[in-house]
Amino acid sequence: MSSINKNNVGIDVIAFSTSDYFLSLKTLAEHRDVDYRKYYEGIGQERMSIFPPNEDIVTIAIDAAQKVLSKIDNKNDIDLLIFATESSFDLSKSAGIYVHHFLGLKPSCRVFDMKQACYSATAALQMAKSFVESNSASKALVIGSDIVKYSPNTSGEPTQGGAAVAMLVSENPRLAYIEPFSGIYTTDIADFWRPAAATEAMFDGRLSAHNYLRSLGCALDNYLEQSSLNFEDINYTCFHAPFNKMAIKAVRQFFPERDIKDALIYNALIGNSCSASLYISLISLIDNCKRNLAGKRIGMYSYGSGSVAEYYSLVISDRYKNTLFSDSNKENLANRIEISFDEYEKLSTTAEIFNYTSKEGGKRLYRNIGSVFLAEIKDGYRIYAEA
Ligand code: HMG
Repeated sequence: MSSINKNNVGIDVIAFSTSDYFLSLKTLAEHRDVDYRKYYEGIGQERMSIFPPNEDIVTIAIDAAQKVLSKIDNKNDIDLLIFATESSFDLSKSAGIYVHHFLGLKPSCRVFDMKQACYSATAALQMAKSFVESNSASKALVIGSDIVKYSPNTSGEPTQGGAAVAMLVSENPRLAYIEPFSGIYTTDIADFWRPAAATEAMFDGRLSAHNYLRSLGCALDNYLEQSSLNFEDINYTCFHAPFNKMAIKAVRQFFPERDIKDALIYNALIGNSCSASLYISLISLIDNCKRNLAGKRIGMYSYGSGSVAEYYSLVISDRYKNTLFSDSNKENLANRIEISFDEYEKLSTTAEIFNYTSKEGGKRLYRNIGSVFLAEIKDGYRIYAEA
């Protein structure tokens, strides 16, 4: 077995946030006249995160990022914030600027958004790694935040969800090193898209699933060639999980001996979170795996429709247990509020994008996940407030 090449830049801290509300897929199955086992066993999902109007990709991103900042001494070391999303509500202003404001980051911190379907957080992570490698005193904050919506009665409907992941990238990371090699596969394909005016995605589900697997084969070949590693050198694998069965099919085809149960626990409860999904798998693995992961190589498969695929690897650091939120992650997911089908239908109707206020009769209708909520939309401009 070849030795692990420890680069010295990687993920220092990682945290996630999702909605406090969910719909059980048993409830959806009942109303769609589907055997719930198709959702539970056939696609491997149990719940989907549903977002009330006071939450969006910015509020959950702030919540995830505040957890990350709670584990560092000096936020003024952060010189770069990249916000990766395909759920942008503004085609001009970066969602990252709101996050920068509420985190109180310094004005000399560079901020911008990135987009390439579910792949963008991986692109952002690799950019951040290069940035820190050339500015070793600097740290970078990478956020992947998405809310995934499909039209009612489509095959994609039970795979809806959403979450934000925040990752601090630094030298001598406490969580995991990012290895210097990666396999890439890019191809132009019409498997999933969202025209600028639409709030729900359009897609060809079968084609997307086919291309996910085909691209994995190509990216993996490229990774093995770049790294001179073998399959046996990869100890664990995490996948972008649009629904868990997709990742299970990938394991069966390419890594038949591997068990990925621990990596899929959170995704089954959250649903597809696009740019965040692969990193939710990583957190799920780390929080739930009973074995010591220090020194283990984790293969990471990132896929964004359209499409770009990347297979790269992390090596878990010896100090990884010092930076985790395992107990609160499990508690937060266990204590969410289940909504009824009527409430789901109400929350799924196209969100107001030009005028909205979060208060009715002076009372806030939904509880907030974190310290910041969407208070108002005025002439299309979003106004956030601290709770
Ligand atoms: P479908 O066509 O409704 O489902 O949706 P199906 O008929 O293929 O059935 C699914 C599975 O359930 C099958 O198992 C059935 O046998 C089983 P499989 O053959 O796959 O192993 N089943 C049952 N099992 C137990 N009890 C039962 C039962 N009935 C059936 N009673 C589809 C599948 C993928 C089309 C759908 O989920 C979809 O359209 N999803 C949206 C697109 C998607 O997620 N694509 C994934 C790859 S693309 C990607 O990852 C990128 C993305 O995240 C976007 C981005 O990049 O921005 C989507």
